[in-house]
Amino acid sequence: QSAPIRLTVEAQGEGPKIDRNIFGQFAENLGTGIYGGVWVGEESPIPNVRGIRSDVVEALKALKVPSVRWPGGCFADEYHWRDGVGPRDKRAVTVNGSWGNALEKNDFGTDEFFDFLQQIGSEAYISVNMGSGSVKEAADWMAYMTADAGTTAGAERAANGHREPYRVKFLGIGNESWSCGGAYRADYYVDEMKRYARFARNLNIQQQGTDNPAGGSVAGADPMQRIAVGPGGLDTAYTESVMRAWKEHDWSWSIEGLSMHHYTWISWPPSFSSVDFGEREYAMLIQDTLKMEDMIRVHAAVMDKYDPDKKVPLVIDEWGVWLAKLPGSRDGFLHQQNSIRDAIIAAINLNMFTRHADRVRMTAIAQMVNVLQAMILTDGPRMVLTPTYHLFKMYVPFQDATRLPISFDAGTYRFGDVSVPRIDAIAARDTDGKLWIALTNVDPTKPAQIDAEVAGMRARLASGTVLTADRVDAVNSYEKPDMVVPRPISAKVSNGRIQMTLPPKSVTVLSVQP
Ligand code: AHR
Repeated sequence: QSAPIRLTVEAQGEGPKIDRNIFGQFAENLGTGIYGGVWVGEESPIPNVRGIRSDVVEALKALKVPSVRWPGGCFADEYHWRDGVGPRDKRAVTVNGSWGNALEKNDFGTDEFFDFLQQIGSEAYISVNMGSGSVKEAADWMAYMTADAGTTAGAERAANGHREPYRVKFLGIGNESWSCGGAYRADYYVDEMKRYARFARNLNIQQQGTDNPAGGSVAGADPMQRIAVGPGGLDTAYTESVMRAWKEHDWSWSIEGLSMHHYTWISWPPSFSSVDFGEREYAMLIQDTLKMEDMIRVHAAVMDKYDPDKKVPLVIDEWGVWLAKLPGSRDGFLHQQNSIRDAIIAAINLNMFTRHADRVRMTAIAQMVNVLQAMILTDGPRMVLTPTYHLFKMYVPFQDATRLPISFDAGTYRFGDVSVPRIDAIAARDTDGKLWIALTNVDPTKPAQIDAEVAGMRARLASGTVLTADRVDAVNSYEKPDMVVPRPISAKVSNGRIQMTLPPKSVTVLSVQP
Protein backbone atom coordinates (compact mmCIF):
# COMPACT_ATOMS: atom_id res chain seq x y z
CA GLN A 1 0.00 0.00 0.00
CA SER A 2 1.73 3.22 -1.15
CA ALA A 3 1.35 6.59 0.60
CA PRO A 4 -1.61 8.76 -0.46
CA ILE A 5 -1.00 11.16 -3.31
CA ARG A 6 -1.38 14.71 -2.08
CA LEU A 7 -3.13 16.96 -4.50
CA THR A 8 -4.04 20.65 -4.24
CA VAL A 9 -6.65 22.55 -6.23
CA GLU A 10 -6.85 26.32 -5.97
CA ALA A 11 -10.55 27.03 -5.98
CA GLN A 12 -10.13 30.79 -6.24
CA GLY A 13 -7.37 30.55 -8.86
CA GLU A 14 -7.65 31.95 -12.33
CA GLY A 15 -7.02 30.20 -15.61
CA PRO A 16 -8.13 30.23 -19.22
CA LYS A 17 -11.58 29.20 -20.38
CA ILE A 18 -11.78 25.58 -21.52
CA ASP A 19 -13.61 26.36 -24.75
CA ARG A 20 -16.52 24.01 -25.29
CA ASN A 21 -15.29 23.57 -28.86
CA ILE A 22 -12.46 21.47 -27.45
CA PHE A 23 -15.10 18.72 -27.27
CA GLY A 24 -15.96 18.83 -30.99
CA GLN A 25 -16.30 15.82 -33.26
CA PHE A 26 -15.43 14.75 -36.77
CA ALA A 27 -17.88 12.87 -38.99
CA GLU A 28 -16.51 12.03 -42.43
CA ASN A 29 -18.31 10.36 -45.33
CA LEU A 30 -16.25 7.27 -44.62
CA GLY A 31 -17.25 3.65 -44.15
CA THR A 32 -20.39 3.44 -42.03
CA GLY A 33 -19.68 6.70 -40.19
CA ILE A 34 -22.53 8.46 -41.99
CA TYR A 35 -24.30 5.74 -43.98
CA GLY A 36 -25.68 3.31 -41.41
CA GLY A 37 -24.26 5.27 -38.46
CA VAL A 38 -26.20 8.51 -38.87
CA TRP A 39 -28.21 8.19 -42.07
CA VAL A 40 -30.56 5.23 -42.57
CA GLY A 41 -33.07 6.85 -44.94
CA GLU A 42 -36.71 7.70 -44.41
CA GLU A 43 -37.92 4.26 -45.49
CA SER A 44 -35.75 2.41 -42.98
CA PRO A 45 -37.39 0.27 -40.26
CA ILE A 46 -34.80 1.79 -37.91
CA PRO A 47 -36.58 4.65 -36.12
CA ASN A 48 -35.52 7.89 -37.76
CA VAL A 49 -36.49 11.51 -38.26
CA ARG A 50 -36.22 12.46 -41.93
CA GLY A 51 -33.75 9.61 -42.48
CA ILE A 52 -31.49 10.36 -39.50
CA ARG A 53 -31.47 7.61 -36.90
CA SER A 54 -33.10 8.63 -33.64
CA ASP A 55 -31.09 6.44 -31.24
CA VAL A 56 -27.83 8.04 -32.39
CA VAL A 57 -29.32 11.54 -32.19
CA GLU A 58 -30.57 10.92 -28.64
CA ALA A 59 -27.17 9.64 -27.54
CA LEU A 60 -25.30 12.55 -29.10
CA LYS A 61 -27.60 15.16 -27.58
CA ALA A 62 -26.39 14.10 -24.14
CA LEU A 63 -22.81 14.97 -25.14
CA LYS A 64 -23.65 18.59 -26.03
CA VAL A 65 -21.48 18.22 -29.12
CA PRO A 66 -20.36 21.78 -29.87
CA SER A 67 -19.42 21.30 -33.52
CA VAL A 68 -19.28 18.60 -36.19
CA ARG A 69 -16.64 18.63 -38.94
CA TRP A 70 -17.93 17.31 -42.29
CA PRO A 71 -17.62 15.96 -45.05
CA GLY A 72 -13.93 15.14 -44.48
CA GLY A 73 -11.05 14.48 -44.05
CA CYS A 74 -9.49 13.28 -47.27
CA PHE A 75 -13.00 12.86 -48.66
CA ALA A 76 -13.58 16.64 -48.49
CA ASP A 77 -11.07 17.17 -51.28
CA GLU A 78 -12.99 14.94 -53.65
CA TYR A 79 -16.48 16.03 -52.55
CA HIS A 80 -18.58 18.07 -54.94
CA TRP A 81 -21.46 19.54 -52.98
CA ARG A 82 -23.79 19.74 -55.98
CA ASP A 83 -23.84 15.93 -56.11
CA GLY A 84 -25.64 15.97 -52.75
CA VAL A 85 -28.47 18.50 -53.06
CA GLY A 86 -31.95 18.33 -54.57
CA PRO A 87 -34.30 15.34 -54.92
CA ARG A 88 -32.49 12.26 -53.69
CA ASP A 89 -33.52 10.04 -56.57
CA LYS A 90 -31.80 12.44 -58.95
CA ARG A 91 -28.53 12.79 -57.08
CA ALA A 92 -25.24 11.68 -58.57
CA VAL A 93 -23.97 8.23 -57.65
CA THR A 94 -20.22 8.47 -57.24
CA VAL A 95 -17.36 6.45 -55.77
CA ASN A 96 -15.62 7.33 -52.52
CA GLY A 97 -12.08 7.03 -53.85
CA SER A 98 -10.51 7.93 -50.51
CA TRP A 99 -12.25 5.21 -48.55
CA GLY A 100 -12.61 1.72 -49.93
CA ASN A 101 -14.14 2.76 -53.27
CA ALA A 102 -17.52 2.62 -51.57
CA LEU A 103 -20.57 3.62 -53.57
CA GLU A 104 -21.51 7.20 -52.62
CA LYS A 105 -25.18 7.73 -53.38
CA ASN A 106 -25.03 11.25 -51.99
CA ASP A 107 -28.24 10.70 -49.99
CA PHE A 108 -26.61 12.55 -47.10
CA GLY A 109 -25.69 15.97 -48.46
CA THR A 110 -25.70 19.55 -47.25
CA ASP A 111 -29.37 19.74 -46.24
CA GLU A 112 -29.25 16.40 -44.42
CA PHE A 113 -26.07 17.50 -42.60
CA PHE A 114 -27.72 20.67 -41.31
CA ASP A 115 -30.84 18.70 -40.36
CA PHE A 116 -28.60 16.37 -38.34
CA LEU A 117 -26.92 19.34 -36.64
CA GLN A 118 -30.26 20.83 -35.77
CA GLN A 119 -31.42 17.50 -34.31
CA ILE A 120 -28.38 17.08 -32.07
CA GLY A 121 -28.00 20.83 -31.34
CA SER A 122 -24.56 21.46 -32.79
CA GLU A 123 -22.67 23.88 -35.05
CA ALA A 124 -21.36 23.27 -38.57
CA TYR A 125 -17.70 22.92 -39.37
CA ILE A 126 -17.68 22.62 -43.17
CA SER A 127 -14.48 21.56 -44.98
CA VAL A 128 -14.36 22.91 -48.51
CA ASN A 129 -12.76 21.09 -51.40
CA MET A 130 -9.40 22.62 -52.19
CA GLY A 131 -7.97 19.51 -53.80
CA SER A 132 -10.16 18.67 -56.80
CA GLY A 133 -12.55 21.61 -56.47
CA SER A 134 -12.26 25.30 -57.26
CA VAL A 135 -12.68 28.63 -55.52
CA LYS A 136 -15.89 29.12 -57.48
CA GLU A 137 -17.28 25.77 -56.35
CA ALA A 138 -16.53 26.64 -52.72
CA ALA A 139 -18.01 30.14 -53.13
CA ASP A 140 -21.15 28.68 -54.71
CA TRP A 141 -21.49 26.21 -51.82
CA MET A 142 -21.19 29.05 -49.32
CA ALA A 143 -23.85 30.96 -51.26
CA TYR A 144 -26.14 27.91 -51.21
CA MET A 145 -25.72 27.66 -47.44
CA THR A 146 -25.69 31.30 -46.38
CA ALA A 147 -27.29 33.60 -49.01
CA ASP A 148 -30.69 35.15 -48.57
CA ALA A 149 -33.60 33.27 -50.13
CA GLY A 150 -34.02 36.24 -52.50
CA THR A 151 -30.87 35.18 -54.37
CA THR A 152 -30.76 32.35 -56.89
CA ALA A 153 -28.55 30.25 -54.59
CA GLY A 154 -30.71 30.96 -51.55
CA ALA A 155 -33.87 30.22 -53.54
CA GLU A 156 -32.45 26.83 -54.48
CA ARG A 157 -31.88 26.08 -50.81
CA ALA A 158 -35.39 27.26 -49.99
CA ALA A 159 -36.78 25.00 -52.72
CA ASN A 160 -34.88 22.16 -51.07
CA GLY A 161 -36.71 22.84 -47.83
CA HIS A 162 -34.73 25.49 -45.92
CA ARG A 163 -35.64 29.11 -46.47
CA GLU A 164 -33.47 30.57 -43.72
CA PRO A 165 -29.71 30.68 -44.34
CA TYR A 166 -27.77 27.99 -42.53
CA ARG A 167 -25.24 28.97 -39.93
CA VAL A 168 -21.72 28.01 -40.99
CA LYS A 169 -19.75 28.68 -37.84
CA PHE A 170 -16.46 27.14 -38.99
CA LEU A 171 -14.99 26.80 -42.47
CA GLY A 172 -12.01 24.51 -43.06
CA ILE A 173 -9.95 25.59 -46.07
CA GLY A 174 -8.56 22.27 -47.30
CA ASN A 175 -7.57 19.16 -45.39
CA GLU A 176 -4.07 17.76 -44.98
CA SER A 177 -3.05 19.73 -48.05
CA TRP A 178 0.51 18.46 -47.54
CA SER A 179 -0.80 14.94 -48.32
CA CYS A 180 -4.21 13.63 -49.45
CA GLY A 181 -5.52 17.16 -49.99
CA GLY A 182 -3.24 17.91 -52.92
CA ALA A 183 0.35 17.43 -51.69
CA TYR A 184 0.95 21.20 -51.84
CA ARG A 185 4.17 22.85 -50.72
CA ALA A 186 3.39 25.08 -47.74
CA ASP A 187 3.88 28.37 -49.62
CA TYR A 188 1.78 27.19 -52.53
CA TYR A 189 -0.95 26.18 -50.09
CA VAL A 190 -0.88 29.64 -48.52
CA ASP A 191 -1.28 31.40 -51.89
CA GLU A 192 -4.26 29.20 -52.76
CA MET A 193 -5.75 29.37 -49.27
CA LYS A 194 -5.88 33.18 -49.44
CA ARG A 195 -8.18 32.97 -52.48
CA TYR A 196 -10.56 30.67 -50.63
CA ALA A 197 -10.40 32.82 -47.50
CA ARG A 198 -11.34 35.81 -49.65
CA PHE A 199 -14.00 34.39 -51.93
CA ALA A 200 -15.60 31.40 -50.13
CA ARG A 201 -17.55 34.08 -48.37
CA ASN A 202 -20.23 33.77 -45.78
CA LEU A 203 -23.03 35.88 -47.22
CA ASN A 204 -25.07 36.16 -44.03
CA ILE A 205 -24.31 39.54 -42.50
CA GLN A 206 -24.60 38.16 -38.97
CA GLN A 207 -21.85 35.69 -39.75
CA GLN A 208 -19.39 38.04 -41.47
CA GLY A 209 -16.09 39.00 -39.90
CA THR A 210 -14.34 42.34 -39.56
CA ASP A 211 -12.27 41.93 -42.72
CA ASN A 212 -15.42 42.08 -44.79
CA PRO A 213 -16.31 45.69 -45.64
CA ALA A 214 -19.97 44.81 -45.13
CA GLY A 215 -19.45 43.17 -41.77
CA GLY A 216 -17.94 43.68 -38.38
CA SER A 217 -20.20 46.39 -37.11
CA VAL A 218 -23.40 44.38 -36.95
CA ALA A 219 -24.73 44.25 -33.42
CA GLY A 220 -24.63 40.72 -32.05
CA ALA A 221 -22.70 39.38 -35.06
CA ASP A 222 -21.02 36.04 -34.51
CA PRO A 223 -18.45 35.76 -37.30
CA MET A 224 -17.57 32.53 -39.01
CA GLN A 225 -14.07 31.26 -38.27
CA ARG A 226 -11.91 30.17 -41.20
CA ILE A 227 -9.45 27.42 -40.37
CA ALA A 228 -6.32 26.93 -42.45
CA VAL A 229 -4.46 23.66 -42.86
CA GLY A 230 -1.56 23.30 -40.47
CA PRO A 231 0.78 20.54 -39.39
CA GLY A 232 0.41 16.80 -39.23
CA GLY A 233 3.76 16.03 -37.62
CA LEU A 234 6.66 17.87 -36.07
CA ASP A 235 7.59 19.57 -39.38
CA THR A 236 6.76 23.25 -38.91
CA ALA A 237 6.72 24.29 -42.60
CA TYR A 238 2.94 24.77 -42.76
CA THR A 239 2.76 26.40 -39.34
CA GLU A 240 5.47 28.90 -40.32
CA SER A 241 4.02 29.72 -43.74
CA VAL A 242 0.43 30.10 -42.61
CA MET A 243 1.26 32.12 -39.50
CA ARG A 244 3.73 34.38 -41.36
CA ALA A 245 1.04 35.10 -43.94
CA TRP A 246 -1.53 35.68 -41.18
CA LYS A 247 0.72 38.26 -39.53
CA GLU A 248 0.91 40.16 -42.82
CA HIS A 249 -2.75 39.82 -43.79
CA ASP A 250 -4.80 42.86 -44.69
CA TRP A 251 -8.56 43.50 -44.73
CA SER A 252 -9.07 41.36 -47.82
CA TRP A 253 -8.54 37.96 -46.21
CA SER A 254 -7.70 36.33 -42.92
CA ILE A 255 -7.95 33.07 -41.04
CA GLU A 256 -9.23 32.52 -37.52
CA GLY A 257 -7.73 29.11 -36.82
CA LEU A 258 -4.83 26.82 -37.70
CA SER A 259 -5.56 23.10 -37.96
CA MET A 260 -3.32 20.34 -36.60
CA HIS A 261 -3.80 16.58 -36.92
CA HIS A 262 -2.24 14.07 -34.58
CA TYR A 263 -3.27 10.48 -33.94
CA THR A 264 -2.15 7.89 -31.42
CA TRP A 265 -0.53 5.04 -33.31
CA ILE A 266 2.78 3.24 -32.94
CA SER A 267 3.59 2.55 -36.57
CA TRP A 268 2.01 2.91 -39.98
CA PRO A 269 -0.18 1.15 -41.04
CA PRO A 270 -1.76 0.91 -37.59
CA SER A 271 -1.37 -2.67 -36.41
CA PHE A 272 -2.38 -2.57 -32.75
CA SER A 273 -5.63 -4.40 -32.14
CA SER A 274 -8.69 -2.77 -30.62
CA VAL A 275 -9.66 -6.07 -28.94
CA ASP A 276 -7.91 -8.91 -27.11
CA PHE A 277 -4.73 -7.10 -26.11
CA GLY A 278 -2.66 -7.01 -22.97
CA GLU A 279 -0.82 -4.61 -20.69
CA ARG A 280 2.09 -4.17 -23.11
CA GLU A 281 -0.16 -2.75 -25.84
CA TYR A 282 -2.02 -0.71 -23.23
CA ALA A 283 1.17 0.87 -21.91
CA MET A 284 2.69 1.52 -25.34
CA LEU A 285 -0.37 3.36 -26.63
CA ILE A 286 -0.69 5.45 -23.46
CA GLN A 287 2.93 6.51 -23.91
CA ASP A 288 2.41 7.28 -27.59
CA THR A 289 -0.58 9.49 -26.73
CA LEU A 290 1.68 11.79 -24.72
CA LYS A 291 3.42 12.83 -27.96
CA MET A 292 0.47 15.18 -28.42
CA GLU A 293 2.16 17.38 -25.83
CA ASP A 294 5.28 17.76 -28.03
CA MET A 295 3.09 18.49 -31.05
CA ILE A 296 1.26 21.26 -29.22
CA ARG A 297 4.43 22.75 -27.72
CA VAL A 298 6.38 22.78 -30.99
CA HIS A 299 3.61 24.32 -33.08
CA ALA A 300 2.33 26.67 -30.37
CA ALA A 301 5.88 28.07 -30.08
CA VAL A 302 5.86 28.93 -33.80
CA MET A 303 2.40 30.47 -33.45
CA ASP A 304 3.58 32.54 -30.45
CA LYS A 305 6.34 34.01 -32.63
CA TYR A 306 3.80 35.52 -35.04
CA ASP A 307 0.82 35.80 -32.72
CA PRO A 308 1.96 36.42 -29.13
CA ASP A 309 -1.55 37.53 -28.17
CA LYS A 310 -2.91 34.10 -29.13
CA LYS A 311 -5.59 35.46 -31.43
CA VAL A 312 -5.42 32.43 -33.73
CA PRO A 313 -6.54 29.20 -32.07
CA LEU A 314 -4.76 25.92 -32.69
CA VAL A 315 -7.57 23.64 -33.89
CA ILE A 316 -6.71 19.96 -33.40
CA ASP A 317 -9.42 18.77 -35.73
CA GLU A 318 -8.31 15.15 -36.01
CA TRP A 319 -7.10 13.18 -33.01
CA GLY A 320 -7.71 9.83 -31.38
CA VAL A 321 -6.35 6.32 -31.35
CA TRP A 322 -6.04 4.71 -34.80
CA LEU A 323 -5.97 0.91 -34.53
CA ALA A 324 -6.04 -2.05 -36.92
CA LYS A 325 -9.39 -2.62 -38.61
CA LEU A 326 -11.59 -5.23 -36.96
CA PRO A 327 -11.21 -8.64 -38.62
CA GLY A 328 -13.95 -9.09 -41.20
CA SER A 329 -14.57 -5.36 -41.62
CA ARG A 330 -14.08 -3.78 -45.02
CA ASP A 331 -10.75 -2.29 -46.10
CA GLY A 332 -10.80 1.48 -45.96
CA PHE A 333 -13.71 1.61 -43.51
CA LEU A 334 -11.46 2.17 -40.44
CA HIS A 335 -13.79 0.21 -38.19
CA GLN A 336 -12.37 -0.59 -34.73
CA GLN A 337 -13.69 -1.47 -31.27
CA ASN A 338 -13.26 0.87 -28.33
CA SER A 339 -12.00 -0.13 -24.89
CA ILE A 340 -11.36 1.36 -21.45
CA ARG A 341 -7.85 2.03 -22.81
CA ASP A 342 -9.38 4.34 -25.43
CA ALA A 343 -11.39 6.23 -22.82
CA ILE A 344 -8.20 6.76 -20.80
CA ILE A 345 -6.42 7.93 -23.96
CA ALA A 346 -9.29 10.38 -24.58
CA ALA A 347 -9.00 11.70 -21.01
CA ILE A 348 -5.23 12.19 -21.35
CA ASN A 349 -5.70 14.06 -24.64
CA LEU A 350 -8.51 16.24 -23.30
CA ASN A 351 -6.42 17.03 -20.23
CA MET A 352 -3.52 18.11 -22.46
CA PHE A 353 -5.86 20.33 -24.46
CA THR A 354 -7.16 22.00 -21.32
CA ARG A 355 -3.60 22.62 -20.12
CA HIS A 356 -3.06 24.53 -23.38
CA ALA A 357 -6.53 26.06 -23.38
CA ASP A 358 -5.16 29.53 -24.08
CA ARG A 359 -4.08 28.31 -27.55
CA VAL A 360 -6.01 25.08 -28.11
CA ARG A 361 -9.59 26.30 -28.34
CA MET A 362 -11.11 23.76 -30.66
CA THR A 363 -10.62 20.08 -31.48
CA ALA A 364 -12.50 17.26 -33.21
CA ILE A 365 -12.07 13.63 -32.22
CA ALA A 366 -11.88 11.19 -35.15
CA GLN A 367 -14.57 10.11 -35.52
CA MET A 368 -18.16 10.27 -34.29
CA VAL A 369 -19.80 6.95 -35.27
CA ASN A 370 -18.31 3.61 -36.42
CA VAL A 371 -14.97 5.09 -37.56
CA LEU A 372 -11.67 5.08 -35.60
CA GLN A 373 -12.10 6.18 -31.95
CA ALA A 374 -15.88 6.36 -32.17
CA MET A 375 -18.41 7.48 -29.60
CA ILE A 376 -21.00 5.08 -30.96
CA LEU A 377 -20.97 1.78 -32.85
CA THR A 378 -23.90 0.58 -34.90
CA ASP A 379 -24.75 -2.59 -36.75
CA GLY A 380 -28.07 -2.41 -38.57
CA PRO A 381 -30.66 -1.55 -35.90
CA ARG A 382 -28.22 -2.21 -33.05
CA MET A 383 -26.31 0.55 -31.32
CA VAL A 384 -23.76 0.54 -28.51
CA LEU A 385 -22.16 3.42 -26.62
CA THR A 386 -18.39 3.10 -26.30
CA PRO A 387 -16.19 3.86 -23.29
CA THR A 388 -15.06 7.00 -25.16
CA TYR A 389 -18.71 8.11 -25.35
CA HIS A 390 -19.05 7.74 -21.58
CA LEU A 391 -15.83 9.64 -21.01
CA PHE A 392 -17.04 12.54 -23.17
CA LYS A 393 -20.30 12.59 -21.24
CA MET A 394 -18.46 12.68 -17.93
CA TYR A 395 -16.42 15.66 -19.21
CA VAL A 396 -19.46 17.77 -20.23
CA PRO A 397 -19.15 19.97 -17.10
CA PHE A 398 -15.75 21.12 -18.34
CA GLN A 399 -17.27 22.76 -21.43
CA ASP A 400 -16.63 26.51 -21.15
CA ALA A 401 -15.41 26.07 -17.55
CA THR A 402 -12.46 28.02 -16.14
CA ARG A 403 -9.38 25.89 -15.65
CA LEU A 404 -8.06 25.98 -12.09
CA PRO A 405 -4.49 25.46 -10.88
CA ILE A 406 -3.86 21.92 -9.64
CA SER A 407 -0.64 20.40 -8.30
CA PHE A 408 0.37 16.86 -7.36
CA ASP A 409 3.24 14.47 -7.66
CA ALA A 410 2.15 10.89 -8.16
CA GLY A 411 5.24 9.26 -9.62
CA THR A 412 5.27 7.02 -12.64
CA TYR A 413 3.65 3.90 -13.98
CA ARG A 414 6.20 1.57 -15.60
CA PHE A 415 5.84 -1.43 -17.84
CA GLY A 416 8.83 -2.75 -19.78
CA ASP A 417 10.41 0.29 -21.45
CA VAL A 418 7.34 2.41 -20.86
CA SER A 419 7.38 5.03 -18.15
CA VAL A 420 4.53 7.55 -17.94
CA PRO A 421 2.95 9.71 -15.23
CA ARG A 422 0.80 7.50 -13.07
CA ILE A 423 -1.94 10.04 -12.42
CA ASP A 424 -3.35 12.75 -14.63
CA ALA A 425 -5.72 15.39 -13.27
CA ILE A 426 -7.41 18.66 -14.15
CA ALA A 427 -9.72 20.94 -12.21
CA ALA A 428 -12.15 23.63 -13.30
CA ARG A 429 -14.93 25.92 -12.16
CA ASP A 430 -17.99 25.60 -14.36
CA THR A 431 -20.21 28.39 -15.63
CA ASP A 432 -22.42 28.05 -12.50
CA GLY A 433 -19.42 28.36 -10.19
CA LYS A 434 -19.34 24.63 -9.34
CA LEU A 435 -15.95 22.95 -8.88
CA TRP A 436 -14.99 19.83 -10.83
CA ILE A 437 -11.94 17.55 -10.68
CA ALA A 438 -11.12 14.85 -13.25
CA LEU A 439 -8.66 12.20 -12.06
CA THR A 440 -7.16 9.46 -14.22
CA ASN A 441 -5.32 6.53 -12.71
CA VAL A 442 -3.26 5.22 -15.62
CA ASP A 443 -1.84 2.26 -13.69
CA PRO A 444 -3.83 -0.79 -14.83
CA THR A 445 -3.14 -2.90 -11.75
CA LYS A 446 -2.68 -0.61 -8.74
CA PRO A 447 -5.32 1.60 -7.11
CA ALA A 448 -4.24 5.10 -6.08
CA GLN A 449 -5.10 6.78 -2.76
CA ILE A 450 -5.84 10.47 -3.15
CA ASP A 451 -5.69 13.04 -0.39
CA ALA A 452 -6.86 16.32 -1.89
CA GLU A 453 -7.09 19.81 -0.54
CA VAL A 454 -9.19 22.49 -2.16
CA ALA A 455 -7.49 25.72 -1.18
CA GLY A 456 -9.89 28.62 -0.86
CA MET A 457 -12.94 26.43 -0.25
CA ARG A 458 -14.17 24.41 2.70
CA ALA A 459 -15.13 21.19 0.89
CA ARG A 460 -17.98 19.25 2.47
CA LEU A 461 -19.19 16.93 -0.27
CA ALA A 462 -17.44 15.25 -3.17
CA SER A 463 -19.19 12.81 -5.45
CA GLY A 464 -19.32 11.89 -9.09
CA THR A 465 -18.75 9.01 -11.47
CA VAL A 466 -15.97 6.60 -12.23
CA LEU A 467 -15.28 4.74 -15.47
CA THR A 468 -13.23 1.59 -15.09
CA ALA A 469 -13.16 -2.10 -15.99
CA ASP A 470 -11.63 -5.38 -14.89
CA ARG A 471 -9.41 -5.78 -17.94
CA VAL A 472 -7.40 -3.29 -20.02
CA ASP A 473 -9.15 -4.56 -23.16
CA ALA A 474 -12.71 -4.39 -21.78
CA VAL A 475 -15.19 -3.17 -24.40
CA ASN A 476 -18.93 -2.69 -24.72
CA SER A 477 -20.50 -5.02 -27.25
CA TYR A 478 -24.05 -5.30 -28.60
CA GLU A 479 -24.48 -8.39 -26.40
CA LYS A 480 -22.86 -6.83 -23.32
CA PRO A 481 -23.26 -3.06 -23.64
CA ASP A 482 -22.60 -2.31 -19.95
CA MET A 483 -19.11 -3.68 -19.42
CA VAL A 484 -17.58 -0.19 -19.28
CA VAL A 485 -20.09 2.36 -18.02
CA PRO A 486 -19.81 5.15 -15.44
CA ARG A 487 -20.74 4.20 -11.91
CA PRO A 488 -21.38 6.51 -8.96
CA ILE A 489 -18.46 7.19 -6.65
CA SER A 490 -18.17 9.34 -3.57
CA ALA A 491 -15.22 10.48 -1.56
CA LYS A 492 -14.74 10.87 2.18
CA VAL A 493 -14.52 14.51 3.09
CA SER A 494 -13.21 15.46 6.52
CA ASN A 495 -11.79 18.76 7.70
CA GLY A 496 -12.10 20.02 4.16
CA ARG A 497 -9.82 17.27 2.75
CA ILE A 498 -11.06 14.81 0.15
CA GLN A 499 -9.92 11.23 0.48
CA MET A 500 -10.66 8.53 -2.01
CA THR A 501 -9.30 5.53 -3.87
CA LEU A 502 -9.01 5.63 -7.62
CA PRO A 503 -9.42 2.14 -9.06
CA PRO A 504 -6.73 0.90 -11.47
CA LYS A 505 -7.17 2.06 -15.12
CA SER A 506 -9.92 4.49 -14.30
CA VAL A 507 -11.20 7.99 -14.89
CA THR A 508 -13.14 9.72 -12.12
CA VAL A 509 -14.98 13.02 -12.44
CA LEU A 510 -15.94 14.57 -9.10
CA SER A 511 -18.01 17.57 -8.25
CA VAL A 512 -16.92 19.22 -5.02
CA GLN A 513 -19.33 21.26 -2.97
CA PRO A 514 -18.77 23.60 -0.03
O1 AHR B 1 -9.77 10.36 -40.12
C1 AHR B 1 -9.36 9.60 -41.19
C2 AHR B 1 -8.41 10.35 -42.11
O2 AHR B 1 -7.23 10.65 -41.44
C3 AHR B 1 -8.88 11.67 -42.63
O3 AHR B 1 -9.73 11.55 -43.73
C4 AHR B 1 -7.61 12.34 -43.02
O4 AHR B 1 -7.69 13.75 -42.95
C5 AHR B 1 -6.59 11.77 -42.05
O5 AHR B 1 -5.45 11.36 -42.67
